[in-house]
Amino acid sequence: MRLVLLGPPGAGKGTQAAKLSAHLSVPRISTGDILRHSVAEGTELGKKAKAYMDSGKLVPDELVIAMTERRLKEKDAKKGFILDGFPRTIAQAEALSKLTDLDAAVNLFLEPEELIKRNTGRRVCPKDDTVYHILMNPPKKAGVCDKCGTPLVIRADDREDVVRKRIETYEKQTAPLIKYYRDRGLLKEVYATGLIEEIFLRTIEALKT
Ligand code: AP5
Repeated sequence: MRLVLLGPPGAGKGTQAAKLSAHLSVPRISTGDILRHSVAEGTELGKKAKAYMDSGKLVPDELVIAMTERRLKEKDAKKGFILDGFPRTIAQAEALSKLTDLDAAVNLFLEPEELIKRNTGRRVCPKDDTVYHILMNPPKKAGVCDKCGTPLVIRADDREDVVRKRIETYEKQTAPLIKYYRDRGLLKEVYATGLIEEIFLRTIEALKT
């Protein structure tokens, strides 16, 4: 299965991508996670990407397209993938269409007011990228990853002012992809409010249609 997950910042793309990856036995490829690791490691890509990410803007297309192309060429992606956070622009979608065919693009949609709460309460594991929420999806032991015991961190772009900027960037540059994939007969719409498990089951149902 070759899937793209669309949706505004905090819609639950990473959360659902992790569940879908386990269910479908294909890798989750998160461009946000790859970029955050590049920033943490101080690579050339990370140095170029950091200022864009910290201010809620998109990293330039040429950098992200080259990075995703490299990742899609890895062996584990041959059997399929779940792309979380890519494409984010029409130019990225066009580049992706030249690399591979897709089975579906799942759009997670929800009320905008929910997005601020989800982003500002998020905590992430810097080691294995597991995502938590202090109220809505807490770890078993406060402040520590359930899977590896690493102390959880707050993402640099989860400050409320940056979250608002990310939502604005999404509306301008990424929301047009909904029509792009609808026009190509690939779009599956999934309402993303409710329990994480309920949304997962809705997604599985949508993929059968
Ligand atoms: P990226 O990491 O992709 O961020 P994003 O799209 O803003 O999405 P998020 O990771 O914030 O949210 P999500 O939808 O994955 O939600 P999550 O599951 O975490 O990108 C970050 C930055 O990198 C960008 O701003 C850009 O600069 C750069 N970048 C990345 N890709 C790029 C590209 N292709 N081109 C250019 N630049 C790029 O859930 C959010 C919270 O809600 C969590 O706390 C979670 O526990 C909670 N939650 C999830 N589901 C539920 C639920 N059902 N009920 C209650 N809480 C829930």
